[in-house]
Amino acid sequence: MVSREVISGIHWVGALDFDRRIFDELIPLPEGTSYNAYLVRGSQKTALIDTVDPAKEYDLISNLVKLGIERIDYIVINHAEQDHSGTLPMIMEFYPDAQVVTNAKCRDLLVALLHVPQERFKVIADGETLSLGDRTLQFFITPWTHWPETQITYLVEDKILFPCDLFGFHAATSELFITDEAWAYRSAKRYYAEIMMPFRGSIKGYVEKVRGLSPAMIAPSHGPINKNPKLILDAYADWVSDTVKNEVVIPYVSMHGSTAKMVDYLTGALITRGIVVRPFNLTRTDIGDLAFALVDAATVVIATPTVLFGPHPSVVSATYLANALRPKTRFASVIGSYGWGGKSVETITKMLDHVKVELIPPVMVLGEPDEATMQALDRLADEILKKHKEINIV
Ligand code: FEO
Repeated sequence: MVSREVISGIHWVGALDFDRRIFDELIPLPEGTSYNAYLVRGSQKTALIDTVDPAKEYDLISNLVKLGIERIDYIVINHAEQDHSGTLPMIMEFYPDAQVVTNAKCRDLLVALLHVPQERFKVIADGETLSLGDRTLQFFITPWTHWPETQITYLVEDKILFPCDLFGFHAATSELFITDEAWAYRSAKRYYAEIMMPFRGSIKGYVEKVRGLSPAMIAPSHGPINKNPKLILDAYADWVSDTVKNEVVIPYVSMHGSTAKMVDYLTGALITRGIVVRPFNLTRTDIGDLAFALVDAATVVIATPTVLFGPHPSVVSATYLANALRPKTRFASVIGSYGWGGKSVETITKMLDHVKVELIPPVMVLGEPDEATMQALDRLADEILKKHKEINIV
């Protein structure tokens, strides 16, 4: 592929992965992704910020060779996950004098994951600076902007932030900079939901810290560069806040139609009451779309048929994921059907131990839903509306 100049003396030297369709064997990538690495040349020293996924190592090396880079003094590693660090051993071989610059926790992970020799590290502390001559890198240790060892790097004079995973999104695009802000907002929200939402509490503080730096540009490690940092900082401030919206998410599976009828009826009942509803049939749902919907929703209603003695396995999987993502959802309930008993409600509610939700009484029906079932769903819709009014979102 090709390198691109960000500003004079700074080049994007990463890799575009148009074909990749899944990350961590879990997260769908409908638009592929990129692994961004940046070369920063100062008057005295040259630094490479992050590397690329090992599957794309040729791209990084060829970008550096084509730029005629004969010496790299520092390889800054902001995050040990292999999509950014995986090509580090190869780059270290190509540039044997380069020091690996990172924090102590990231060093330990790089030693464990990639067997990087201890003597190659230059360990930095929070707030420390590193001079490249006429340019200065400053490092801020920001645990849990995905993993516990993550840090962000700031290029002081040019006011460019390199936050690695934070503030980026998965997309492979030939455009170096964001040009379609509406698309970028939606893509970044999906990425936040899938990757950053579990760390909402930590990220709150980082958003304000970054705002204080007043960056002119945010150059993440996935997706195009952002020349309007206010867009993403305002968006993150909203997503990580405790504010929820008048929305209900209904992840569901139906085997013989009973649960689907209940979901359909409840969807209509909620719409009638002025509530935004997002049902997701889990047999065909992109889980990134489900995660996206969970960012703002005040309520989740999990709908399941009964398989043997409990919820459908696809519902178990979605519930596990929703719990792990720790959305700020305030209320939850369960609806569904059964043929001879079962413990679906107990199983599902026990799985929601990471989200602080108030449980609204469930509606479980024996066999085919009838008029009494629909009345019970109307009462559930009334209760959801009442709860939303109590927290002033209606
Ligand atoms: Fe893009 Fe946490 O790696």
